[in-house]
Amino acid sequence: MYHVPALMTEAVEALQVRPQGVYVDATFGGGGHARAILARLGQGGRLLAFDQDEQAEANAQQAPFAGHVGFQFIRANFRHLKRHLRAWGVLPGTVDGILADLGVSSHQLDTAGRGFSFRFEGPLDMRMNPGEERTAADWLNESTEAELQDLFSRYGEVRNARTLARACVQFRESTPFRTTNDLVRVCDQALKSLKGMDRARYLAQVFQALRIAVNDELGALQDFLRDATEMLRPAGRLVVISYHSLEDRLVKNWLKAGNAEGTPQSDFYGNIRRPFEVVTRKPIEPTEAEIQQNPRARSAKMRVAEKREAAQPEYDNEPGP
Ligand SMILES: C[S@@+](CC[C@H](N)C(=O)[O-])C[C@H]1O[C@@H](n2cnc3c(N)ncnc32)[C@H](O)[C@@H]1O
Repeated sequence: MYHVPALMTEAVEALQVRPQGVYVDATFGGGGHARAILARLGQGGRLLAFDQDEQAEANAQQAPFAGHVGFQFIRANFRHLKRHLRAWGVLPGTVDGILADLGVSSHQLDTAGRGFSFRFEGPLDMRMNPGEERTAADWLNESTEAELQDLFSRYGEVRNARTLARACVQFRESTPFRTTNDLVRVCDQALKSLKGMDRARYLAQVFQALRIAVNDELGALQDFLRDATEMLRPAGRLVVISYHSLEDRLVKNWLKAGNAEGTPQSDFYGNIRRPFEVVTRKPIEPTEAEIQQNPRARSAKMRVAEKREAAQPEYDNEPGP
């Protein structure tokens, strides 16, 4: 199985698919969510799906996607959503719904040659798009100690980030980082006291931190949110599933205020500008039953918002007489 989609029913329902509507799946992966969206589309409906991974593209070349008149796969980073959608004839302000199911697919995680997981020996790569220049090994070999410390603590909230950064620099003085095992060994030596689940959690945090940096995941998400806001029509829906707190915070702030900080901005007249009406005050999470069947869904958090009508100012204070 390439990937078991998380919150499948909830996500597709949240999109409120109209048979003739235009929808975007920003993270096609194994096409699980896309398949469910496509099944709800009728004649004239469109689904444009993005993924930067060539293996996801191969999935899009199979049934029911291949040859489907309403379906288009776009092999690209979703941070350039607007540019690519325009190239496919979709104008800003016209999209009915956009879904992003962030992070990596199970297939990416479980393929040793991609280097995403500490559980398999493989090249320390971690690029979702193998066409990108810098691998995880390059980051470890070329960053300064301070940069590594910052990366581990900012993106992984890793304990003892300073000790780990120093251990990485010491390791590469004798031999450059090449494989996932090189990094596992350095982590084990730097934090000898960690065992069992604690060790697994620690390694997962370290690997996740590197992955976020290699793929500039937070930068890409911010660009995506900006473009998605422009592309949606009034009352169009944005559905985002995230898997760690940094992503979720960014999404939450964006839906609340239309910016990464979550601080509503006023226009020239003092009207607060909020591009979205938040549909889910609290994020939707998988049920126990789903987690039992698909443990990888356990950290999923889904947020949904509806684009506001552009011409509806919201007043900071009660308007005067
Ligand atoms: C969790 S999987 C999506 C699974 C999908 N919903 C399904 O049902 O199979 C995330 C996918 O998003 C892709 N991805 C992550 N960040 C991306 C980005 N910035 N641009 C394009 N694709 C991205 C990954 O390559 C991966 O295939």
